[in-house]
Amino acid sequence: MYQPREHFQSGHRFGIEFGGAVLSFERVTDVLRRQWPIIAVCVGVSLALVIVYLATAQPMYTANARIMMDTRQAQVLDKDSNASSALIDTGYVDSQVEIINSDDLILSVVRRLKLTEDPEFNGSSPGLLSLIIGKATSIFSSREPASQERIEHAVVGQVQKNLRTERVLATYVLSLNYRSRSPDKAAKIANAIANAYLVGALEAKYQSTKRATEWLQQRSLELSEQATASDRAVQTFKAEHNIVGTSRGLMSEQQLSDLNTQLVQARAATAEAKARLDRIDAISDQDLAQPTVTDALNNAVITRLRAQYLDLQAQYADWSKRYGKTHLAAVNLANKMEELRKNIADELRRIGDAYRSDYEIAKSREASLEKNVKELVAQAGHTGQAEVKLRDLESAADTYRNLYNNFLEKLQSATQNQSFPLSEARLISTAAKPDRKSSPRTVLALVGGLVGGLCLGFGVAFARELLSDVLRTPGEVEDELGVKCLGVLPDIRSSTKAGPSDLSRYVVDHPFSRFAETLRNIKVSIDVARLTREIKVIGIVSSLPKEGKTTVAANFAQLVALTGHRTVLIDGDLHTRSLTRELAPNAKSGLVEALNDPASLGYHVQRSKETGLDFLPSVVASRMVNSADVIGSKAMAELLKVLRDHYEYIVIDLAPVMPVADSKAVSFLIDAMVYVIEWGQTTRSALQESVSGSEVLQKKLLGAVLNRANPKMLKRIEAYKGKHHNSYYVEHA
Ligand SMILES: Nc1ncnc2c1ncn2[C@@H]1O[C@H](COP(=O)(O)OP(=O)(O)OP(=O)(O)O)[C@@H](O)[C@H]1O
Ligand SMILES: [Mg+2]
Repeated sequence: MYQPREHFQSGHRFGIEFGGAVLSFERVTDVLRRQWPIIAVCVGVSLALVIVYLATAQPMYTANARIMMDTRQAQVLDKDSNASSALIDTGYVDSQVEIINSDDLILSVVRRLKLTEDPEFNGSSPGLLSLIIGKATSIFSSREPASQERIEHAVVGQVQKNLRTERVLATYVLSLNYRSRSPDKAAKIANAIANAYLVGALEAKYQSTKRATEWLQQRSLELSEQATASDRAVQTFKAEHNIVGTSRGLMSEQQLSDLNTQLVQARAATAEAKARLDRIDAISDQDLAQPTVTDALNNAVITRLRAQYLDLQAQYADWSKRYGKTHLAAVNLANKMEELRKNIADELRRIGDAYRSDYEIAKSREASLEKNVKELVAQAGHTGQAEVKLRDLESAADTYRNLYNNFLEKLQSATQNQSFPLSEARLISTAAKPDRKSSPRTVLALVGGLVGGLCLGFGVAFARELLSDVLRTPGEVEDELGVKCLGVLPDIRSSTKAGPSDLSRYVVDHPFSRFAETLRNIKVSIDVARLTREIKVIGIVSSLPKEGKTTVAANFAQLVALTGHRTVLIDGDLHTRSLTRELAPNAKSGLVEALNDPASLGYHVQRSKETGLDFLPSVVASRMVNSADVIGSKAMAELLKVLRDHYEYIVIDLAPVMPVADSKAVSFLIDAMVYVIEWGQTTRSALQESVSGSEVLQKKLLGAVLNRANPKMLKRIEAYKGKHHNSYYVEHA
């Protein structure tokens, strides 16, 4: 029974989903077996192309020069770089490669070797391919003659194309490969490029040291100016803020302590002056002439006056007692005493005045000192702040001075380097003239061609398989239809030299052929199905014309008849009637007549003496419009009923399903349908469309058979069955 293919399960399979199809190992080998000729063709073509290429390609020679890179990079400013120079980063290596490939370097080589005049470069002897490309591009480009610069540029481009520079593993060695048509030139150019690099490296080093020296010079000049300026700034600042350095610290501090000492002294002096003054004041109130007044004043004048006074007083006392106080001498004495007393008083006053003035002076000195101290203290505050600023300036000046000294030192060494620029890069292997061509590489090209051809072949093969919509294996049929594939019928035309009439009786002539055996297998399948239900009427049907219905029907019927079963074969294809033409070309009546008059059936049936097969032909004068009605008629049902009584097998050759309706019309009268699919021809789409078009047909479908399989390809497809698989068949009578 027909099942939609989605529900069909053909057991467990290994494989991956590939564009909807399962790409299993079996499928791959199937594809290879079927498609190996196309793969072989692809490989052949690709190898042929490779051989043509090898024969025509211009041989190229590669020369190799090796340069040891300069591991000590020109670093004037960084003296410690020597320690770390042991490790070169890849960036540096890549830069060196770029330098070698640079336009300027190559241009210098092009000019030195006059490569613009070389026919290999100026295009006067171009290869076939470049000639074609040149012609093609000249259509689009302007025709003005190229300038010298343009020519040089083009040659530089070509040299760069042929040059391959690379680092040798993780070493500091650069390998420089140059490819040329001539081995001599390859070596010459490789060496020229290597030398240009070395000279360039030296020059670069010189230039960089020179630039660095210039810069250093300028910078040290600036630095010296800066250092001087900052020194000057320190001095100016000191002067402005009155900061003078002494051995005992700064000037202002020294002053303050001095002033303080003076102030203390001044205060003492003032107190002393005050004490003296007070004493004078106290004394001036007393009568100094009195002896009781102790002489605290150590004044010589007063002491003398007092002594005189005291003498006179003693004399006066004597005289006044002796002569009376009124005595002239006594009065004189008294006057003298009075005068002395006045003198003393005057003297005292004078001293007092002097003392007072002393005191005033001391006081004013003290006040002035105090004021000075105060000022100085205030000033010291300012000086403190200024000092911070000063330190700043001083340290800046120090820095500049150190920097300047440092730069001077470096400038010295840089100037030395400039006069002896030493490059560490050197040529460690000069390019020698290559004695073997480097390209085209024969073996590599052949292997490449082989692999490429194989890939292409596989691609094409699988594409063909994926794109092809046809069926070639029983598995595919079962996947597609969901019914059993009853067998694969090989193409029998190749094994018979005779015409079409031999094909319709092939089983008779070749009873042990694979063809016959496959048909026997169909019979077995029908017999097995007969165990559960009655199967007598067997329709042979296909989707499209010329798929082999008639051939299969004729051979099948003969095969069954030969086994001794009562069998009738009916030509049910009222359109072509090819079966009748094959088996009973002279028949005058047949199916149509039998339908009109069932009683006359025996008259129309022809029996084969050889096989014992009864054949009911179809004879119509002209093509019928209503053939579907005729074959699906009640009369047909009646006829079959009669036949069922007489025969064990009733085989009907039917018309194709897609173009005409006959098969669908008769399908309800048929017990089992055998579907013929032309191997490698019938498309899946046609099959799907025709089968899904009739439900009755689907129900009646017993199995399908693949017809006209190419025997050679069949052998490939069935290689997995072993080489003895076909040994039971006898294809040639
Ligand atoms: N197994 C086969 N080996 C070789 N040739 C075959 C085979 N089957 C069919 N043919 C050939 O294919 C052609 C068509 O076959 P046939 O007439 O049997 O097909 P058909 O389906 O009956 O066609 P139609 O739809 O016209 O009736 C014939 O020439 C026949 O000889
Ligand atoms: Mg036919």
